[in-house]
Parts: sequence; C-alpha cells; structure tokens
Amino acid sequence: MQRSNDATTIVKEVFPVNFNDLQEAVEQKIPKPNYDYIKGGAGSGQTMRNNRQAFESYSFIPQLLNDTSAVNTSITLFGKTHPTPFIFAPVGMNLLEHPDGEPAVVKAAAKLKMPYSLSTVSSYSLEEVASAAPEHTKFFQLYWSEEDELALNMVSRAEAAGYEAIILTIDTTVSGWREGDRKNQFSPILHGYAKGNYLQDPIFLKDLENGKYKDFVDGVLRNVNHPHLNWSHVEKLRKHTKLPILLKGVLHPNDAVKALEIGVNGLIVSTHGGRQLDGVIGSLDALPNIVKVVGGQVPVLFDSGIYSGLDAFKALALGADAVCVGRPYVYGLAYAGQTGVETVMSNFYDELVTTMQLAGVSSIESLQKIELIQRG
Ligand code: FNR
Repeated sequence: MQRSNDATTIVKEVFPVNFNDLQEAVEQKIPKPNYDYIKGGAGSGQTMRNNRQAFESYSFIPQLLNDTSAVNTSITLFGKTHPTPFIFAPVGMNLLEHPDGEPAVVKAAAKLKMPYSLSTVSSYSLEEVASAAPEHTKFFQLYWSEEDELALNMVSRAEAAGYEAIILTIDTTVSGWREGDRKNQFSPILHGYAKGNYLQDPIFLKDLENGKYKDFVDGVLRNVNHPHLNWSHVEKLRKHTKLPILLKGVLHPNDAVKALEIGVNGLIVSTHGGRQLDGVIGSLDALPNIVKVVGGQVPVLFDSGIYSGLDAFKALALGADAVCVGRPYVYGLAYAGQTGVETVMSNFYDELVTTMQLAGVSSIESLQKIELIQRG
C-alpha cells in the first residue's frame, strides 16, 4: 500500500490532525452521554493512564542510510497477506456515533484493506455488516452468552456469513466500573443500541417468546456479561468451530500458555482500552512477556492506546504481529462518517510509513528488530 501523496496530505489537514484534536472535535458533535461512554475508562482511569504512559516510556535509536524508498508494511495472518499491520478492533453499538454505524466502518476498512472485527453488541446485524463488504476480511467478536447454545449459534451465523475468525473477549465477564456512565445514568444497552445481532437470532427470539427474558433489553443484558466464563468455554468453542480463535484481553503469560494448550490460534494483548479493570499495567507493558512465552507459535495482536502511527510502530517493535485500533476510528465515524474513519486510519498508516522510513527500516520484519529502550 502506498503512502498518500502530498496533495492528499494537504487536503487531510482540514481534518483534526491528531487524536487529542479529534477527541475534542467529537465532543462538540455528539450527545454528552455518548461521548463520555466512548471516551471513558474504568474507575479512576489508572489503567487508561498506564496504557498511554507505557507508550511514552519507550524510545529508540534509528540506524540510517538504508534505502527506504520502497517500504513494505504487509503482514500475514492465518494464511492471508494484508498490506498493512492495522486491524479494526471490535467496538460495539456504532449508532452511538453515527446513523451509518458498522456498515460504514466495514466499508472504510475494506477500502483500506485492513481486517475488520465486528462486536457481538453491534447496532447492525452481523449479516447486514457482512453484506456491506462481502469480500473483505472480517472477524467476529464473541461475548459468551449465559446460554451456551446462543453463543455457539452466533458463531455458526458468523461462519455462514463469511467471518474468518472468532475473537472471544475474556475481560468482560461483568461490565467495568465506569464512573462517567454512572454519573450520566447512561447504559447504551438499556437505550437499545445493541440490538443488531439479537434481533436476528432465532434462539434469542424463541427465549423471548417463551418468557425466559422479561423483555428484549433484559435478554440482551443477560447475554452480554457472563461471570461463569472459564476455560471449559474456550474448549467448547474450540470443538464447535474450525475457524481460527483469538482470545482478546490476555495480559498474564500464564493465561497465554493455557490458551496455547487448548489450541487457540491467536492472542490479543489488551486492557479493553482501560474500560474494564482499573489498576492494571499498561497493555504495552504486558506485551513483551506474552510475546516471549508465545515464542512465535501463534500471532500476538495488540491494542489499547494506539493513537498514532508512531504508537503502532512501538507496539510492532515490541513484538506485536498486528495492531488493533479502537477509539480513534469511532471518533472518525462520529466526526465524518465513513470518510472520517478512512481519514483517521489512513493518517495512522501514513505516519507509520514515515516513521519506518526515518527509522531506517523498510519492512515489518526489520522494524521488529529495532530495540526499544524503556525509561526506568
Ligand atoms: C470497546 N471495546 C470492545 N471490545 C470488545 O471486545 N467488544 C466490544 O463490544 C467492545 N466495545 C467497545 C466500545 C467502545 C466505545 C470502546 C472504546 C471500546 C474495546 C476495543 O475492542 C479495544 O480493546 C479498545 O478500544 C482498544 O483501546 P483504544 O484503541 O480505544 O485505546
């Protein structure tokens, strides 16, 4: 993939150039409860701060006079080559940002050739989203329902609709303690933003009809959080699907080892953007130990706090095989719909290429050999 030419770069300058400017601009655009929900983290925000401070704590020394006129940013994931190392993280309920929601995001991802992950709690159904970009690489993120049959049926629906991997999120067995949403008395699920997949699910609808749930929203709530979740569910999922399985939210090396024993095909090192458990180390600080124990057996993806191309560079240098982006693209969606998503992500890409060139590396493989130095 080519870095945008200068003319495009100039046009883009009317768009908020960095993450903080974009966040501020979005604050003026969408209702306060929606904005607070997206921006917010768990508790006092310690994990969110740790996520960012981890990036700030690393620096590196460039090695120059290598011809970097032809930069190759491609990566291979589950047998497929992708031109960039960026992946769209699953972010639920995109009607909070824009009426075009997830279909607009998947179209942007397809245009940029960056794999897209759809959340269980999307505003549009997984089938609608798939049909917006049928040829594009898409993953389905699963929140395990309190009912195994329903969870596994969602996986079967995702398989039938052409999703190429299942991301099981393991850090959301209950919702994080989110002070901002409590102050605003705002729960987007209660406000009906997460209907997409449940509205289309035969098992969910049958349960609703049989009176298992008080009403639709009660059913959704009971199917999102699942505090019983344990390794036996991962084994069940392994038996149910031939698709690659990624566990999202792995931070402890022991969990990484256990996941490999069960036959998981990839890990996502993540603190859920600091939205779930407060007081956790920065996601980037958890990455090197996970990379070490995995030893190249499966891909290690990374998210939480990637707010620029330079951040992506640092995560890749610490051994991530690909980087996932959450808040930045949803801010892009809130700011300017599909075009906004494309602008944010192509700026990240352009900055990554610039950083690689100035650091003297022309491929992700050579980037990964750069040594990062951490301030004590
Ligand atoms: C999320 N994230 C998330 N993760 C997941 O597995 N399923 C989901 O439905 C959601 N929903 C969601 C909503 C919102 C508003 C945000 C901001 C995030 C977490 C997401 O996949 C990712 O881990 C973080 O967003 C990464 O951190 P950054 O990039 O936002 O710092």
